[in-house]
Amino acid sequence: MDKILVEGGRPLEGEVRISGAKNAALPILISSLLADGWNTYSNVPDLKDVQSTKNLLSKLGARIETDGDTIRIDTGNVRCHEAPYDLVRKMRASILVLGPLVARLKKAKVSLPGGCAIGARPINLHLKGLARLGAKIELKHGYVEAVADGLHGDEIYLDMPTVTGTENLMMAAVLAEGVTVLKNVACEPEVVALADVLTRMGAKIKGAGTSVITIQGVSMLKPVSVSIIPDRIEAGTFMVSAALTQGDVTLLGCEPDHLEAVIHKLRLSGADITVKDKSIRVKGVDEIVSVDVKTLPYPGFPTDMQAQFMVLMSVASGFSIISETIFENRFIHVSELKRMGADVKISGNTAMITGVPMLSGAPVMASDLRASASLILAGLVAQGTTEVHRVYHLDRGYEAIEHKFARLGAAIRRVKT
Ligand code: EPU
Repeated sequence: MDKILVEGGRPLEGEVRISGAKNAALPILISSLLADGWNTYSNVPDLKDVQSTKNLLSKLGARIETDGDTIRIDTGNVRCHEAPYDLVRKMRASILVLGPLVARLKKAKVSLPGGCAIGARPINLHLKGLARLGAKIELKHGYVEAVADGLHGDEIYLDMPTVTGTENLMMAAVLAEGVTVLKNVACEPEVVALADVLTRMGAKIKGAGTSVITIQGVSMLKPVSVSIIPDRIEAGTFMVSAALTQGDVTLLGCEPDHLEAVIHKLRLSGADITVKDKSIRVKGVDEIVSVDVKTLPYPGFPTDMQAQFMVLMSVASGFSIISETIFENRFIHVSELKRMGADVKISGNTAMITGVPMLSGAPVMASDLRASASLILAGLVAQGTTEVHRVYHLDRGYEAIEHKFARLGAAIRRVKT
């Protein structure tokens, strides 16, 4: 398994281009199940999760062509309705085929994703919503089996504004008969991006980006040609790297509007940030100020940036509190950061961080995607060498991360083992 070696202590400088967003690409590629004919998606990031999505769609019978960052998908021949355990366990987002398959083929059999490192991550709200739309759902032998003669619109209230739950239900409702009103839905930019794509396919959707989405079902959708929005979490990760290393990094091709909470907290920590159209310049300062952070659904501070921000707070000048309110077990990076000299105490969903003058390089183990990114960031400021093991997590969600950091001046390399 590959590992990444980082030699700390170099300020990062230069420009970095932000890739397409993983969490927008996955549901959008899967939305190809809703229309016959060739769909074209550009600015698709080259990631393990995108490969897993392509594997899943071809297992279902889709034809797929890839040319650089453009992927073409035709699902006209899709007859298979089963997403097997082997594919779903590699990528939880596979559950997103449930809604489109029931809408299109009237049946779906999708492996239950199970828990994951960051929490239990149930899918009860996806299932309750689909049942309201008329699907009969059974859980058998580790699979969700859903059948529906025809879906019909209804009013659905989500107990939590779940991102993939909102996406799954939107994709089911676009082909349902009548009007569906989804309440307390997720407002994340990736949900809006999916709604935009579905609208371009001919769906009638109002309210995406607010907490109520109204969908008037249509009988058929047509294929589209669309570009994937920039990855706000990749952008945020590079912004933290600039602040952390007292560097000067300009992000190109990003969407500053999606990053307001991250920009706000980084400014409070002392970073000098200039926003211009689709670029953000971040200049770090000598003394990083401690700032409290609470993760929240969008437009609050993203849980997917919590681990990276904690690294910044680990070398800040004072004491800070980070509260994680989205996932119940998203502090797995803390034990590894402590091995690098960070002073962090955990109590329930709260981390109390006392800044230290210096981290020290160590062999560390990545446990999930964003935790892996945080360990690379820690390595960039640590004295000596940090060895990040189990980097397959990183490859699921960051495109060519070590090359991007190397071009900014980091001493970083991948070792194939
Ligand atoms: N929840 C339920 N029931 C459900 C669904 C969710 O209780 O049926 C709970 C979850 O347990 C969690 C909360 O609702 O406590 C929010 O989870 P959500 O469903 O919004 O998360 P998700 O859709 O599974 C997506 C992203 C995650 C990101 C979260 C939160 C994708 C493919 N994944 O997950 O991304 O952390 O939203 O913003 O869009 C990542 O990229 O590293 C990542 C984990």
